Amino acid sequence: MARDEWDPRNLPDLTGRAYLVTGATRGLGYFSCEQLAGAGAHVLLTGRNPNRLVLAKEAVRRTHPDASIETLLLDTSNLGSVRAAAATVRARGRLDGLLMNAGIVHPPKTRELAGGHEKVFATNVLGHFALAGELLTPLAAARGRMVWVGSMATSLWKHLPTDPDLVEGYTPWRAYVQSKAATTMLALEADRRLKAHSVPVESLVAHPGYSTSGRTRGIRGVNEPTRLTRFVDNLQAAFTQGKDEGAWALVRALTDPRAEGGSMYGPAQLARGLPRRATPARLTRDSGLSADLWRACETATHVRWPFERVRRVAS
Ligand SMILES: NC(=O)c1ccc[n+]([C@@H]2O[C@H](COP(=O)([O-])OP(=O)(O)OC[C@H]3O[C@@H](n4cnc5c(N)ncnc54)[C@H](OP(=O)(O)O)[C@@H]3O)[C@@H](O)[C@H]2O)c1
Repeated sequence: MARDEWDPRNLPDLTGRAYLVTGATRGLGYFSCEQLAGAGAHVLLTGRNPNRLVLAKEAVRRTHPDASIETLLLDTSNLGSVRAAAATVRARGRLDGLLMNAGIVHPPKTRELAGGHEKVFATNVLGHFALAGELLTPLAAARGRMVWVGSMATSLWKHLPTDPDLVEGYTPWRAYVQSKAATTMLALEADRRLKAHSVPVESLVAHPGYSTSGRTRGIRGVNEPTRLTRFVDNLQAAFTQGKDEGAWALVRALTDPRAEGGSMYGPAQLARGLPRRATPARLTRDSGLSADLWRACETATHVRWPFERVRRVAS
């Protein structure tokens, strides 16, 4: 297979590997779990709602009756929940990959807080920053990988997280785009720091293009769009894809043995298509701004990634 070729419907055999996915109860997170489980991986579906987790688990089993899956409560807007889930994962053992997908995609109209921080930033960014730091040890033990989920919106709107809590100038769209810029910046900054400390974990970023539920097959309890949503989403068919297809880039970043730390994956035609190497928006590649953001996340979460300790244990 040529270097940039990848068949998302024919993944490598992932038997014996374990992956954790946040926001696994619907959308891209659910379909990532389905695809990973179909390739033989053990998949840890995480989410904030126990009922939705049961429905998602049942749905994966309907598609892959022999799937090796378990569920775990994890609310990324709540650092206590993140710490508790991470402790459970560390106790359970092997972890080859972490897919940080959970997110608020329709932010509240006015600014809200979670744990003292702007809610979209807390949910999409801070929770994942803390989770990845808390799971660095098992990831390094497996010489594993973490994937952060960005968005093509970061190339179209220049909302950088210079004021992450949006004390001034909150708008729902700004909160969303800056959270996706932040995840991309943290992915690249994590990769720089992991390499600098010789920690055997890769950090990548992926984006799903424009993926809508109305262009995705119906799944009981997981994807049940209204007829109006189906109608509207189908009007946009020329430049959108289903969430199952959107998950392809995320899963490739997580499992392609040739993918490298610091790289990005997204659909070939930007908004849709087969998963290919992509280029992060120029502003998200600013290492100075990213280092500032890293320190802000450390302060906000009280989590310092244990690079030195992990390097000593892994070497
Ligand atoms: N769809 C796109 O075109 C697109 C484009 C660019 C980037 N993305 C990114 O891809 C990711 C998934 O998007 P999607 O389209 O699949 O969205 P979605 O269908 O709305 O699914 C979002 C998932 O995140 C979960 N979630 C939300 N808040 C959470 C919290 N506090 N703790 C834990 N889980 C939480 C939801 O759980 P519940 O079921 O409990 O609500 C749900 O499972 C997001 O990070 C989004 O920014 C999507």
